[in-house]
Amino acid sequence: MNVVGARPNFMKMAPIIEAMNRRPERFRHLLVHTGQHYDEKMSRSFFSDLGMPKPDMNLEVGSGSHAEQTARIMVEFEKVCLEQEPDVVIVVGDVNSTMACAITAKKLGIKVAHVEAGLRSRDMSMPEEINRLCTDVLCDYLFTTDHFADENLIAEGASPDKIFFVGNVMIDTLLKHQGLARGLRLIEQWGLKPRGFATLTLHRPSNVDDPAILRGILDALGEIGKEIPIIFPIHPRTRKMVKQFGFDGYFSGTEKPRGLWAIDPLGYLEFLHLNMSAMMVITDSGGLQEETTVLGVPCITLRHNTERPITCEVGTNFVVGNSRDDILHRAFRVLKGDVPRGKVPEKWDGRAAERIVGILTNLDGGLDRAT
Ligand code: UD1
Repeated sequence: MNVVGARPNFMKMAPIIEAMNRRPERFRHLLVHTGQHYDEKMSRSFFSDLGMPKPDMNLEVGSGSHAEQTARIMVEFEKVCLEQEPDVVIVVGDVNSTMACAITAKKLGIKVAHVEAGLRSRDMSMPEEINRLCTDVLCDYLFTTDHFADENLIAEGASPDKIFFVGNVMIDTLLKHQGLARGLRLIEQWGLKPRGFATLTLHRPSNVDDPAILRGILDALGEIGKEIPIIFPIHPRTRKMVKQFGFDGYFSGTEKPRGLWAIDPLGYLEFLHLNMSAMMVITDSGGLQEETTVLGVPCITLRHNTERPITCEVGTNFVVGNSRDDILHRAFRVLKGDVPRGKVPEKWDGRAAERIVGILTNLDGGLDRAT
């Protein structure tokens, strides 16, 4: 039983489903969408872009406080597990749906696999860090993206025979869709020049929920926007906060050649198309730090820490925090051509899902090797 809930889950699950479909004699699988994300642009468009099957079940839990959302997912997912009796539940990433479904399944005695296990920011003010810790401690199979993750799990006492370093499923999806994304014409249509613009995503509560912090970030972006256009597909949560704080004045409108262009969230292919040709990506997302590392595009991460240190160690990522001056310092270095030459981390090669499915297939006695 494969579980997805929020936008960053979809591109991680797509290659796993595909790999399972290549072994129909071994896997009968169901796709459960918790409905944590539900907008057309946050959810449905990804299914068509990624060629994913329609979910077999949608729990339609929607938004709410963390406790409300997590609880609703658990109540609904328990019913599904009791009815379908899966051998194993696969969860990906670190969103509320990931943790809620892992706890629910484990309490019913069902084996749980976590894809993207072991990432740690050591920042307990991030809801995702709590989700990661709770999920990993319960899981029977821990599929990791890099050596840092393996080390974190071992340090926390996970048994080494549960841990499988398989690579990065998100990169499987990126490599598969790069050709298609390259063929789109958005850059041309919007009058942008390759390497002549930046893209931006911003949605973490730590950046957008406090007006003083958000103002500092928008001030910095305003300065960068005087040099190049910044394309900002805006997350619904951020749109709400910008309106609430009266910050609409920071946006230039897409007719202007420069400035901060706020647009609706983009589909997977459209956003990849932009990021491939961007001069830099400015973000507080987790996944984008990995995608830019593979694309070789400089990434300026507006956070004080990262659970993905490999992207700084070998990739093109700079974690700069969220103060106006620190953002500007790094962005202007990139604007002046000071760009890192990164490498692609080991096993980020498009075959991670194949490895995961191979491991699940070959476990002695079926899917019950670990306890
Ligand atoms: C969630 C994940 C975060 C991930 C992000 C990617 C958790 C704790 N957080 O954050 O790790 O990086 O997804 O997008 O699971 N909303 C809509 N439409 C939607 C979904 C949400 O309008 O389809 C609005 C609602 O006002 C909602 C708010 O966004 O209250 C936040 O949604 P939520 O799912 O709680 O968290 P995200 O901020 O999206």
